[in-house]
Amino acid sequence: MMIQEGVSLLPYNTFKIETSARYFSILSSVSDLSILHTRVPLLVLGGGSNMLFTKDFDGWVIKNELKGIEVILENADYVLVRVGAGVVWHEWVLHSIENGWGGLENLSLIPGSVGAAPIQNIGAYGVELVQTFHALEAYHIASKEVHHFSKDDCKFGYRESVFKGALRGQYIIMNVQFKLSKKPDINIGYGAIQQELDKMGVVEPKIKDVSDAVIRIRQSKLPDPNQIGNAGSFFKNPSVSTEFANKLKVAYPGLVSYSNIDGSVKLAAGWLIEQCGWKGVRRGDAGCHEKQALVLVNFGKARGAEILALSNEIIQSVQDKFGVHLEREVNII
Ligand code: FAD
Ligand code: EPU
Repeated sequence: MMIQEGVSLLPYNTFKIETSARYFSILSSVSDLSILHTRVPLLVLGGGSNMLFTKDFDGWVIKNELKGIEVILENADYVLVRVGAGVVWHEWVLHSIENGWGGLENLSLIPGSVGAAPIQNIGAYGVELVQTFHALEAYHIASKEVHHFSKDDCKFGYRESVFKGALRGQYIIMNVQFKLSKKPDINIGYGAIQQELDKMGVVEPKIKDVSDAVIRIRQSKLPDPNQIGNAGSFFKNPSVSTEFANKLKVAYPGLVSYSNIDGSVKLAAGWLIEQCGWKGVRRGDAGCHEKQALVLVNFGKARGAEILALSNEIIQSVQDKFGVHLEREVNII
């Protein structure tokens, strides 16, 4: 594995922030893992679509390119597939759909790599990774051992896992195993999907139709990182108690909220931010997207620190107006 010095991270993050890494390597073979060590800070990078670089990284960036898609078990009902962490997420989703394996279609077009998907238990359009996740293998950098993680071991939650919490920075995910259905039940409970299928004239949707509908919705709502730098939702949707949500609803009847299974209530952060007047606001090259207030954008040459400062102002104003604390979803480096 080659180690380069002073490498620009501009091509490696979807926010299109210019910073550099002191050391940089491409990890394309499992045999290269053994040379990694903890004497300098390590940062594992997939597609860089959930990161905000606020300064040069004074350590070793490892760009994960471990590839491979391998069926490890198949019967009449389901298939177990092991996928390399460096495979591009959307390419894997398309591969699964071409093979008639159901379960990932609602997660179409999410940027990034397969190996990062468990880190925040990616989710969209009524589905989360946890629903098709079977297991993963990860390299423990300090002990140089490969550890197996079951679904329970990963402690998945809304945009959370053990790898974002207690085990942060300790492991490199090498591959993820998925359990996909050969007799798929499609999930079109998320209203916008049914509307899009109607527009497409689809009466009996198959997994490919659901994927196409999700792609069309995403393309109409979210900025394309190839055109304008961003990392998707910058904040998580906050959860509050039912009592608190009810009080807010009296003061703000337009409040957008959803019931969680544990009895708490999730609020649409995009709505809260828009109500504070941030939608479409631009500060230099940093801004709040004009169509989706939950997405912060880089119009050109914004520094990570400017985007972070804007996010702090947004957090403060949502706190002041609604008494609700917004947590960032994006990893600040
Ligand atoms: P990176 O940004 O490279 O890394 C993210 C984190 O994971 C970092 O902490 C990194 O160190 C760690 N990491 C990465 N790979 C590994 C590995 N192999 N082992 C250990 N740690 C690792 N997310 C959603 O959940 N739902 C969405 O609908 C969604 N939509 C998006 C839309 C847009 C336009 C964009 C830009 C982003 C969106 N995201 C969404 C966020 C992002 O796509 C996901 O979080 C994705 O999983 C990040 O993958 P990545 O490979 O780019 O990760
Ligand atoms: N809304 C506003 N104003 C805005 C944005 C949204 O009022 O500026 C309202 C919408 O009208 C809607 C509600 O908020 O009623 C929810 O909006 P949307 O359906 O766009 O979803 P979201 O909550 O903003 C979440 C995820 C996305 C995921 C979509 C679709 C989080 C943090 N974000 O966004 O994930 O793609 O749902 O399922 O949970 C990501 O994590 O990066 C991401 C893009």
